[in-house]
Order: sequence, then structure tokens, then C-alpha cells
Amino acid sequence: MPRTLTRLAALGALSRMRERGYGGEMLAVVNTPGGAAPVEIREVPEPEPKADEALVAVHAFSLNRGETRLFQVRHEGWRPGQDIAGVVARQATDGSGPAAGTRVVCLTDWEGWAERAAVPSHRMAALPDNVSFAQAASLPVAGLTALRTLRHGAPLLGKRVLITGAAGGVGNLAVQLAARSGARVTAVVGSAERAKVLDGLGATEIVTSIEQAQGRYELILEAAGGASLKAAIDRVEAKGVVVIYGNSSGESTPLDFRMFGEHQNARLQGFHYFTSEPEEKFGADLRLLVSLVADGSLKPRIVEHDWHDIPAVGARLLARGIAGKAVFHIPQH
Ligand SMILES: NC(=O)c1ccc[n+]([C@@H]2O[C@H](COP(=O)([O-])OP(=O)(O)OC[C@H]3O[C@@H](n4cnc5c(N)ncnc54)[C@H](OP(=O)(O)O)[C@@H]3O)[C@@H](O)[C@H]2O)c1
Repeated sequence: MPRTLTRLAALGALSRMRERGYGGEMLAVVNTPGGAAPVEIREVPEPEPKADEALVAVHAFSLNRGETRLFQVRHEGWRPGQDIAGVVARQATDGSGPAAGTRVVCLTDWEGWAERAAVPSHRMAALPDNVSFAQAASLPVAGLTALRTLRHGAPLLGKRVLITGAAGGVGNLAVQLAARSGARVTAVVGSAERAKVLDGLGATEIVTSIEQAQGRYELILEAAGGASLKAAIDRVEAKGVVVIYGNSSGESTPLDFRMFGEHQNARLQGFHYFTSEPEEKFGADLRLLVSLVADGSLKPRIVEHDWHDIPAVGARLLARGIAGKAVFHIPQH
């Protein structure tokens, strides 16, 4: 949308809020663990941004596997939502961050899946005109995880990199970022059907089981856990790194010093995207990711839905039925 129109849309959202009165109500996704569905869309109070937070009118958001699991364990009334894209309705009152009307992608702690969200001004990046809200919304958690796990193998030029769960949200972005950095990427997917999502994204090789991955790798991104993590250790180069960033299978892995006999001085690196790098780097890394989407070198694979579809899509995600990222649109009235 041209810049003037987005600014008008943001001002429209703000004036509708004023009509309803600050301290009024808006729609948001709310956790309902004992209910008919794991979450529902309900009226909640409008956010009250702090001085260093912008008020963002949310147009699209994405769902992460970890959040889907949280639906089951968090209390009734908890409000999920980390990955959002939209338009700044009101700039942070301390003057930091993008001005009202700017299209942005943001990382929030929680409570982002709502008509409006309060977002720290350093946790957002302005969107180039050719990056859609849906593409942008797929980036924060998955893109930051892909980018930052790969940094454990930098520089990647010419290195062999093995990526498990490559058809998933983090995996498909990691394949692209690694290939763009000059790595020779082996992507592990669950089936030939799942491999289709990686068409044209730069993987040197796609295998349907980690057991088919031949030779040694200097960097391995591993989030399936269990037998997959054991197989990853069997394939790491001496002094190489296995970045362990998830356990999608829920299985554990036996670990023993002797496993490293043929992989001497290899490292197992635990990874948490949120604390892996300083807080002030979120904005710069989000800007990097959107710039790569804008120049065509990062192509998020997304499936788009209305936000009322979250319960059904969440179940499909947990059952390994979503390739790439599920993105949801919030209707703009
Ligand atoms: N540490 C962090 O900071 C961080 C950040 C983001 C995500 N994570 C974690 O990283 C993992 C990947 O996240 P994501 O958003 O990419 O999830 P996702 O979109 O669901 O992708 C996970 C992929 O793993 C593959 N997989 C292999 N074995 C699996 C199993 N036994 N059960 C389920 N999936 C299996 C699936 O692909 P196939 O069916 O094709 O094999 C699936 O596409 C999750 O465990 C998530 O919780 C951690």
C-alpha cells in the first residue's frame, strides 16, 4: 500500500479507537485450555503502551510450534503472540522508533495476536513497499532463529551444513540463508512431498531421512531431537558444531564421551533465539531479514489464513502438516 494510504489507514485505526475510547476494547486471541478450542478470539482491553513502546495496528501474524504447545500449558486468559506485522498507529511517546503510518514487522514478548499491540520501539523494523505483511509476519521468531543459529558456523562459504526439519518454519529460512552465504546445504525433510516446499531455495541436496546424509558436516542445525540428534552427532566434523535449538519429537538422546571419538573436539551448542544475542540487536537483525526478502534472496514459504482458523491450523502444525510458516490475517475494518 502506498505510504500515504498506510498513514491514513493508521490514523483511521487511531480515530476508531478514540471513538471507542482509550481504555476501550479490541479483539484478541485468548488462551482457553479447558474450552472447546485451545484459543478463541475475544474482546480484551486496549493495550497501554509504555513511553518506549509504539502502538501497532496488527494486520498479520504467524504461529510457531512452540507457541502452539504453550496453548496447552498456559493459564486461561493468557494472550499469545510474538510475530506480528502491521502499521504504527502511534509512535512511542519518547520519540524513539518509526513514526505513525510506517509499515513494520515486530517481535513482541506476548499479546501480539490482537487488533492492536504495544511494541518496544527497538523490536521492530520498517518494511520496504515490496514486502507484504504476511511475508514479514513469518520472519521474527523463525527468521531470527535461522539467522542466529547459522552464525555459529560463520563464515559459511564452502562449508557443508546439515539442516534437519528443513520443511518447517525455521528450516526453510535456514536453508536459504545458508545457501546465500555460500554453504553447501543438505536439507532433511520427512517425505518427498515435504521436499516440494524447498524447490528453488538453494539446497545442494534434499534427503528424506538424516540417515541418508553422507559424510561429515561443519555445522548442523538440529531441532528434532531423539534419534535425529544422535544421527547428527554421528555426522559432525571434528571441531564442528551441532546447534541444538529444539526437541520437536519430545524424545531424549543418550550422550556419551565415546560418541565423540571420531568427531574430536566437536561442540554441542544449546541455542535460545531470545537471549542468544544482545537485546539491542533485534531491530538490526529484523532489518536484515526484511532487506533479504525485499531483494528477492529470502523467500518465506507461507500458507495464509484468516485468524479464526488458528485452532485447526495449530493442530495441523503439530501433526507436521504445515510446510513453511502459517500466517494469519486480521481483517481491517
Ligand atoms: N531455541 C529456540 O530459540 C527456538 C526458536 C524457534 C523454534 N524452536 C524450536 O525449533 C523447532 C522447529 O521450529 P519450527 O517453528 O520450524 O517448527 P515447525 O515449523 O513445526 O518445523 C519443525 C519440523 O521438524 C520436522 N520434524 C522432524 N521430526 C519431527 C518430529 N518427531 N515431530 C515434529 N516435527 C518433526 C518436521 O518436518 P518433517 O515432517 O518434514 O520432518 C517439521 O516441519 C521446534 O521444536 C521449536 O519449538 C526453538
